[in-house]
Amino acid sequence: MKIIYKFFKREIKWYIPIIGMLILVDLSQVVIPLFTKKAVDAITKNNTKLIIQYGLIILAVAAGIILIRYIYNYILRKLVLKLDFELKTSLFKQYVRMPKSYFEKQEIGDLMARVTNDTRAVRMFLIMGFLGGIDIILLGVTTFVMMFIMSAKLAVLVAAPLVLLVPLALNFGHKIHRYFKNVQSIFGEMTVRVREAISGIRVIKAFTRENFYLKLFESENEKYLRENMKLVKLDGFLEPAIDFLIYASLFILILYGGSLVIKNRISLGTLVAFSQYIGTLAWPMMAIGFTISLLQRARASLGRINEVLSAIPEVRDVKPITVGKLKGEIKIKNLTFRYPDANYSILKNITLDINPGELLGITGPTGSGKTTLIELIIRVYNPPEGTIFFSGYDIMKIPLKTLRGNIAYVPQEPFLFSDTIKENLTLGKKNATLNEINEALRIAAIKKTVDSLPNGLETVVGEKGITLSGGERQRIAIARAVLTKRPVMLFDDPLSAVDTDTEKEIIKNLKKYLKENKITAVINSQRISALSVADKVAVISRGRVIENGTPGQLFEEKGYYYHLYRKQILEGMRSDEKE
Ligand SMILES: Nc1ncnc2c1ncn2[C@@H]1O[C@H](COP(=O)(O)OP(=O)(O)OP(=O)(O)O)[C@@H](O)[C@H]1O
Ligand SMILES: [Mg+2]
Repeated sequence: MKIIYKFFKREIKWYIPIIGMLILVDLSQVVIPLFTKKAVDAITKNNTKLIIQYGLIILAVAAGIILIRYIYNYILRKLVLKLDFELKTSLFKQYVRMPKSYFEKQEIGDLMARVTNDTRAVRMFLIMGFLGGIDIILLGVTTFVMMFIMSAKLAVLVAAPLVLLVPLALNFGHKIHRYFKNVQSIFGEMTVRVREAISGIRVIKAFTRENFYLKLFESENEKYLRENMKLVKLDGFLEPAIDFLIYASLFILILYGGSLVIKNRISLGTLVAFSQYIGTLAWPMMAIGFTISLLQRARASLGRINEVLSAIPEVRDVKPITVGKLKGEIKIKNLTFRYPDANYSILKNITLDINPGELLGITGPTGSGKTTLIELIIRVYNPPEGTIFFSGYDIMKIPLKTLRGNIAYVPQEPFLFSDTIKENLTLGKKNATLNEINEALRIAAIKKTVDSLPNGLETVVGEKGITLSGGERQRIAIARAVLTKRPVMLFDDPLSAVDTDTEKEIIKNLKKYLKENKITAVINSQRISALSVADKVAVISRGRVIENGTPGQLFEEKGYYYHLYRKQILEGMRSDEKE
């Protein structure tokens, strides 16, 4: 609620005039039947002059109401949209602020719903609820008081059926809300199905599972239809029910009010005025019910929005220190790490030194913790304090921006945004020159491919453009990192999808590039061609460093590295023989 309150406080200069306008409109609305009464009474007295006079007054007041309502609606909606804009932006801002661990615990659909559905609930409440609240008090009370003054007993009798609108609207509001929530959640599941089927279309086709997924979707879709039908039935019933109560009120008016007119206890004008008041009284009665249910919905939604906004990112700056220029030196000391919710350690007692300008190769069996180690260096997750040092500083104390600004990273699953290749390349260096870009492309052995694309660097890739192969994506990711020339580079299995010849070319280029720019680098790979040019190699198995030394030393040790070497060199020789 704080965010709404702050918004109200800041925009108070707008709320005061619109509240004023609302009061004016409501009061004018109560006044119109008064003049109707006078006009009708003038009709019964055959006074043409007065009829015209009252008619014009009604016209003028009505025109005034329409004009003010328009301005009022405009300002209110503008304000609400502005708040909506701010809520959505703060949610998004918070999402991009959150570390990876946050998204592992949340469903994407749910996070999306908070930006779309929940902000809509708040918006609806602010438009309807605001109007409703003031309308209820002002319009309802003044209308009833006017009726009461004109004829107390008739007022009570006529209002009686309309009072029933309150529980009716409340009850319906609740039910609609409940069904609506069901419909929304089923809709969420359907979205997931569609998304999954589209992104997994290759697998579905390969395993001829089209029908299976169709059935799955169909059953969800049926559920969606069923729940929606409940909503339709309810919605369809509501309007006639409201009409029924209004007509009941009208019926009492004609029966009892009519008899009062015949007995000359009230004038015909009063009767007509009453029939108009029934209309003005019905709205606030319904509004009470709807406003309450909208309020409950908005409160729940605001709660969900707040939950996101008040979440504190696990990975953040806590008492960061100011650091000068960092040199590319990384020291890892007795690092033991377990994932936030895991009950065993993934990394155990890791100690590694990477000196400035050095290239460290990391290898080891799958699932041994290599990616984890690399991700800890850029704090995708927090390592324990005092275990990883960058240029002598504990990375937990270096401002995150500084830390990451000094490291270029090629993730194991390279991700390209649906944008041009150029935009994707310059992600870490917006002002890169064409020469620099071309040089980076050359190092990553992808220049020829990019040149041959229809629009070269301006070719759009990803969802809205062409699909690059896995190996091409990897090389773009390498070029993107190379372009930044940051003092430290981390490559997580960057060559897994490229052929051996290209691999050799990239390794040769990279090695030269790293030495020339005195860049410290870690390369995680299963490829001997990458490991053998490293200054040092560490083999990680089950979270422990089991071999550590120069490639030559490891070869002598005849362990994991030696076997990897033998296997790949022998395989290479065999395939050469065949050619
Ligand atoms: N976010 C996470 N939460 C919990 N456990 C995780 C998480 N990420 C990885 N793990 C687990 O940690 C272990 C090491 O994973 P990691 O990705 O570091 O292995 P790896 O050595 O990079 O493997 P590969 O060679 O296949 O890439 C695995 O058993 C994995 O299931
Ligand atoms: Mg990995």
